[in-house]
Amino acid sequence: MPRTIIEPFRIKSVEPIRWTTRAEREQLLRAAHYNLFLLPADDVLIDLLTDSGTGAMSTHQWAAVMEGDESYAGSKSFDHFSSSVREIFGYQHVIPTHQGRAAERILFGIMCKKGDVVPNNTHFDTTRANVEFVGAEAVDCVIPEGRDPRCNHPFKGNMDVAALDELIQRAGPKRVPLVMLTVTNNSGGGQPVSMENVRQVSEVCRKHGIPLYFDACRFAENSYFIKLRESGYATKSPKQIAQEMFGYGDGCTMSAKKDGMANIGGFLCTNNDLLAQQEKDLLILTEGYPTYGGLAGRDLEAIAVGLREALEEDYLRYRIASTAYLGNHVAERGVPIVQRPGGHAVYLDARAFLPHIPPSQFPGVALGAELYLEGGIRSVEIGTLMFGAAAKMDLVRLAIPRRVYTQSHIDYVVEIILEVWKKRESIRGMKVNYEAPFLRHFTARLEPIAG
Ligand SMILES: Cc1ncc(COP(=O)(O)O)c(C=O)c1O
Repeated sequence: MPRTIIEPFRIKSVEPIRWTTRAEREQLLRAAHYNLFLLPADDVLIDLLTDSGTGAMSTHQWAAVMEGDESYAGSKSFDHFSSSVREIFGYQHVIPTHQGRAAERILFGIMCKKGDVVPNNTHFDTTRANVEFVGAEAVDCVIPEGRDPRCNHPFKGNMDVAALDELIQRAGPKRVPLVMLTVTNNSGGGQPVSMENVRQVSEVCRKHGIPLYFDACRFAENSYFIKLRESGYATKSPKQIAQEMFGYGDGCTMSAKKDGMANIGGFLCTNNDLLAQQEKDLLILTEGYPTYGGLAGRDLEAIAVGLREALEEDYLRYRIASTAYLGNHVAERGVPIVQRPGGHAVYLDARAFLPHIPPSQFPGVALGAELYLEGGIRSVEIGTLMFGAAAKMDLVRLAIPRRVYTQSHIDYVVEIILEVWKKRESIRGMKVNYEAPFLRHFTARLEPIAG
């Protein structure tokens, strides 16, 4: 096999991106209150804000879009969608939603109540917010290695099984309506969960009679990491690995904007008939009829094809290699990153990058602003602005949209990070001037602290 791993596609349609000057970016950043969410996308050169819904669809997906059956009830597209989901995930009931958080809202709205406890390896921000919205407590139980950015553990997304068991015993199993496993662990650095850990978590859940759900957003990348890093899986296909993994659970939430390779969509799965009925009833109230759930028939078609494409080995090999290339090239020049590079993103460790900025002054926001000023790159802070004082780390996530940027784009990003690294001592902390009562990072207004 040649050493060079190339993009396993050729480009049929291009979307221009726009250069801005540093002076323009200074002005744009001020106008956006130093919150990169508030920047117009057209003023961003390389947009690594998220890998969610930002991927490029394949010719097969676009062809499937044309097959979309837009019937309100019983559309053919729903059959294509649900059989693709069932083939991979194996769950009995497949409930489409407009994106992942809608699946979360329905799941927690039906399964949880005030005073309940929901353990997860690490809750994503919308997952935590949806758990807390119904008055339940969201508890992160990732292994200690998962909280140490420099630790090289191959499965840093693993759940701390002893801590999980202890939490369930302390709270009492009746107060724990479900356990969740996020694959890969986005808020913990895009780190995978091993099959052995899935099995152990599932055993703890069975012992206490608690269902196990997956937050399955990046299930294909997680499956590929298992193939690469866990003994006994090298000869299995990513699809076989995904099937085995989901077999240990009782259901999942999914944002098809990630490993569904689509620009919108999600779903909720369960094996529980009673819950499925309640979930569908709620779905009708807020999302739509159960055969479209807030999506167009064409979206269902794109997801049906996308889920299968996400599991293709050529694609996953390139995907994981490209992300690792970015991470390893900055790390070898001393830039502190969360080791190892994740599946969908590289996470800069802003506390170590900017040790002179305390967490209360948002080092992740400051570093993200500087990457934009230096090279028009947009990233996202995952730290004190996002999680408040509960933040265990201050990270800047550079999420790579699927099949969008080429090797030269990645080389450019490496160059800009290294430029910012050289001038790190001059970067100042930030203060918040406005914040919303929840999920404040989306709309907060900030400014640099006068130095
Ligand atoms: C792990 C995880 N869970 C849930 C979600 C929510 O999905 P959506 O953005 O489709 O609502 C995301 C989105 O980034 C995520 O990364």
